[in-house]
Amino acid sequence: MYSSEIIGSGMFVPPQVITNHDLEKIMETSHDWIVQRSGIEERRWVDVETATSDLAQKACAFAIENAGIDKSEIDCILVATMSPDHDFPGVGCFLQPKLGLTKIPTIDIRQQCTGFLYAMSIANSFIRSGEYKTILLVGAEIHSKGLDKTSRGRDVSVLFGDGAGAIIMRRTENNDPKKDSFFISSHLFTEGAGAKDLWAPAPGSAMGNERITHENMNNNLHYAFMNGKKVFANAVRRMCEALTLALDKNNFKLEEIDLFLFHQANLRINEMIAQEMKIPESKVFNTIQKYGNTTAGTIPIGMAEAVKTGKLKKGMLVASAAFGSGYSWGSSIYRW
Ligand SMILES: CC(C)(COP(=O)(O)OP(=O)(O)OC[C@H]1O[C@@H](n2cnc3c(N)ncnc32)[C@H](O)[C@@H]1OP(=O)(O)O)[C@@H](O)C(=O)NCCC(=O)NCCS
Repeated sequence: MYSSEIIGSGMFVPPQVITNHDLEKIMETSHDWIVQRSGIEERRWVDVETATSDLAQKACAFAIENAGIDKSEIDCILVATMSPDHDFPGVGCFLQPKLGLTKIPTIDIRQQCTGFLYAMSIANSFIRSGEYKTILLVGAEIHSKGLDKTSRGRDVSVLFGDGAGAIIMRRTENNDPKKDSFFISSHLFTEGAGAKDLWAPAPGSAMGNERITHENMNNNLHYAFMNGKKVFANAVRRMCEALTLALDKNNFKLEEIDLFLFHQANLRINEMIAQEMKIPESKVFNTIQKYGNTTAGTIPIGMAEAVKTGKLKKGMLVASAAFGSGYSWGSSIYRW
């Protein structure tokens, strides 16, 4: 059977930097509160013209270049996002022509902060089965256009930012986990009982006779609601569990992992995971300080930035874990 290898990465964040001090001007919050609770110092917001597929296109172009392939080699596109250009069709349909591609299948994945782990797992399965050979995966979000930027929404809106990251996964016959570069394992979970701890009720088919009503909008039901403390506690617990499972199933010791690329929801979550699992801080690569939580974008942005800064090199063993709305969570191990 084939396996799959990550052969290139890229990222793009919009140039407009929004600092915590900028947020202080539009809502009741403070730089100190945001840094103490989340570690976030700034995030990026797009301008009015930019759509999610535009961020995705730029990240994909960098990943294609970094992989050293011709775009015509790509035979499938997977897009992980919860902030699409339009209600339908999916972002992949708008991204494909922007990349100058045609006819190849595009699939949008809706698993929020775990979206990119789901995308990697799906790509790996497609490649292992022989169905596709070279898959472009992108995690992209524009949150800034969907946040309640008043004091009422401050618990959520200070945490999120815009950005995109992309990778290319390609068929390989590499299969020795101790030395070969390939995607080694994936463990995915969903626990729908927690769905309403982090969600946006509207628009939706469960919202009455009409998906969108003035009443629902006036009640702010299109904004995210979050039970922050519960989500925080579950994120630490589930990400630790998923990581432990990934290590056990693959007979890896924690010390063998060279780099941990976690989802970036809150720096304190990642610090608690490192503390609980006794992971040296130096092995955890975080970007949340600069970009906030870009949901499906955090893991591929982390990959591309770790490569750019020399923290992630060919042959290194990497573990990723994520937790988010759903609840959905998971882990994966791959040798870069
Ligand atoms: C959101 C989060 C940072 C809040 O931290 P916390 O320590 O739980 O803070 P609390 O909710 O207890 O709020 C403490 C106080 O700060 C206030 N507060 C909330 N947001 C604020 C903000 N942006 N600025 C200033 N004060 C704020 C609250 O109103 C509350 O005030 P009160 O004590 O007078 O009622 C934290 O719960 C978290 O990160 N949760 C998980 C987030 C997450 O992972 N989300 C995405 C999943 S992928």
